[in-house]
Amino acid sequence: MRSYVDAFSPYWHPVAFSHELTGAPLAAHLLETDLVLWRTGTGVAVTHRRCSHRGADLSLGRVTPDGLRCGFHGWTYGVDGRCVRVPSQPGAPIPAGARVSAFRATERYGLIWVCLAPEAAAPLPEWPELEDGSMATVPLPLLDWNVSAGRMIEVVLDVAHLSWVHEGTFGNPEQQEVPPYEVERRPTGVGARIVYPALAPAMDDMPPRVDRTTLTYDVTFPFAAKLAFKPTLFYVHTVYAIASPLSEEKMRCFYFASYHPRLRNHFPDMFVKSELAILEQDRRVLEGVRPRAHPLDFAGEVHTPADRLPIEYRRGIIALRLGRPVDGPAPE
Ligand code: FES
Ligand SMILES: [Fe+2]
Repeated sequence: MRSYVDAFSPYWHPVAFSHELTGAPLAAHLLETDLVLWRTGTGVAVTHRRCSHRGADLSLGRVTPDGLRCGFHGWTYGVDGRCVRVPSQPGAPIPAGARVSAFRATERYGLIWVCLAPEAAAPLPEWPELEDGSMATVPLPLLDWNVSAGRMIEVVLDVAHLSWVHEGTFGNPEQQEVPPYEVERRPTGVGARIVYPALAPAMDDMPPRVDRTTLTYDVTFPFAAKLAFKPTLFYVHTVYAIASPLSEEKMRCFYFASYHPRLRNHFPDMFVKSELAILEQDRRVLEGVRPRAHPLDFAGEVHTPADRLPIEYRRGIIALRLGRPVDGPAPE
């Protein structure tokens, strides 16, 4: 079986919000690989972070018209990772080993995505509503959790935990049963729709309020989840959680919401505050789950029909990991 790193290298993963990368190089990490990003005239370059000369950290260097210049002795690397300048030996040929591995990067949805393999096995998620100007977006601070990327997406898809883990934010302890729901399996992901009687806690002089909220789940393999919340009497807002695998047991989640621009005066602040409280509830549970690695089978846990959505998601991830079609038969 392929290693975790090899299995997920041929996919696009976000490594930074676009707004984080300015004129200076930026350190990033993905699938046990230290990376450095920098802006070029035409896009974003990304290479290994260790200088091939004497191992300095290239994110401490400087972006020049010729490429990224190491701060230790000035060796400069182009976007293809080749060293183009060795200032201490200006007349001599560039040594053959003077290069760092270069990777592909692209920018979309306010994120910088990197693929560590020469060819991507799947395109980026398709979220056209983020590109037609109809919605505004607000990011959350990065979520650096000791949780595997697959388990993070499973908790986003977990219907049965809402009434337990999220009590006090929007969970409704009166609604413990999970009614049957359908899961749509696609070659690129899974989806489902449920109606949940969300309970907004009492606030100021407002009593607690129950709203039958429609939750629409839509995952793009491997680790990009979109979840739309449509309250009966209010605008929809949608959260996007993209878990970027730092290693098999650790992820950095890029999390943001889209919302109707009319809400711009209130929504961003309200969303960030309440979502951070909700996510803290998830983090406390999730960091305690064992094994930390996302299981490659269903043997060590007991599942019920209420868990169908995370189960179908896991089936897809197991298939990707084993190099099988995601629509294939269920693993043993
Ligand atoms: S270590 Fe980078 S130039 Fe010497
Ligand atoms: Fe949750």
